[in-house]
Amino acid sequence: MTVTDTATLTEDLAAARQRTLDLVSHLPRADLERQIAPIMSPLVWDLGHIAAYEDLWLAHRHAGMELLRPDLAALYDAFETPRAVRGDLEILGYDDAVVYLAEVRDRTLAALERFGPDPVLHELVLQHELQHTETMRQAMAIAGLLPPGEPRLPSLGASASVDEWLSVPAGTYALGAPEGDRFSYDNERPLHAVEIADFSIARRPVTNGTWMAFVEGGGYVRREWWSDEGWAWKEEYDITHHASVAAGDPDAPACHVSWFEAEALARWRGARLPTEAEWEKARERLDGVGLVWEWTASPFGGYPGFVAHPYREYSEVFFGDRYRVLRGGSWATHPRVATTTFRNWDLPERRQIFAGVRLAHDPEGSPR
Ligand code: AVJ
Ligand code: FE
Repeated sequence: MTVTDTATLTEDLAAARQRTLDLVSHLPRADLERQIAPIMSPLVWDLGHIAAYEDLWLAHRHAGMELLRPDLAALYDAFETPRAVRGDLEILGYDDAVVYLAEVRDRTLAALERFGPDPVLHELVLQHELQHTETMRQAMAIAGLLPPGEPRLPSLGASASVDEWLSVPAGTYALGAPEGDRFSYDNERPLHAVEIADFSIARRPVTNGTWMAFVEGGGYVRREWWSDEGWAWKEEYDITHHASVAAGDPDAPACHVSWFEAEALARWRGARLPTEAEWEKARERLDGVGLVWEWTASPFGGYPGFVAHPYREYSEVFFGDRYRVLRGGSWATHPRVATTTFRNWDLPERRQIFAGVRLAHDPEGSPR
């Protein structure tokens, strides 16, 4: 395992913090402290949670110190205090959250000087903060609060709505991250062999233009393209179109689509979603990776031989048939997080993620 040295880590932690604080520095207190949507935490919750997580793993667990604020540790624990009840709790306001962040950082830097870097925990904490700034951007996007200088999804070119397929030959593929040479999450390990049959995968993610062709071709009306679960979701929430896709550049990747919709669009096209193994195998050949997360057909589960590390609540409690895996990363994902083997996951009905779709098909499939 390449352990980052103390000086580099100190700089990287400072840069991540600056990035977090810069993201929200233009916002009035009221926007930071309100709950933007039922499934999103107030932005100040993320700030307090980032501090509590750092204190837990770097001051308490790594350095054996008492928690700075044991009362806040429980409040900011996503499991002890789930999102649905967070709105009413006395979480820290913006000024206090910024003080908490700074006080924790003083402790963890002192601990880092004294004990040196931990090969897992420092990277875990650093990436945790980077991941939460993407969650914060999701909330900010919903409320129209993103700062004006933020990147926007680019056009993929004038021919982007024409499907172009790359064929990938059958073979054994080593899926996941190797033990030891760089940081990886428990859910990326162990590296293991999988057999993958011949398949084809789209060169580019599906564009807004293609999505609108689906809508105009009866995408939200024709029952046969939807799964039972997907149709039930669509009916219950009266989903009849996709407003942000309709408003987007026709040649830019479609974004904020749910897995249910992605699956229906694939069926309309005579195609399917790629499995995550297919996605990872084809990764180096694909255009437009890293603009929108790409939904895969795969449910989120442990690879054979999975061992939770350093705690079950990072991944294992989400394993099962409900959550679906997303791959690649979005424009809002820090490159340190968006590695080839990184697995993201969410529920199939969710639209807040910066997620789109890349299609795949079997050799005998005949996409139109
Ligand atoms: C990997 C993005 C699904 O936000 O739930 C943040 C990352 N884990 N704090 C999430 C995470 C703990 C996680 N995702
Ligand atoms: Fe977290």
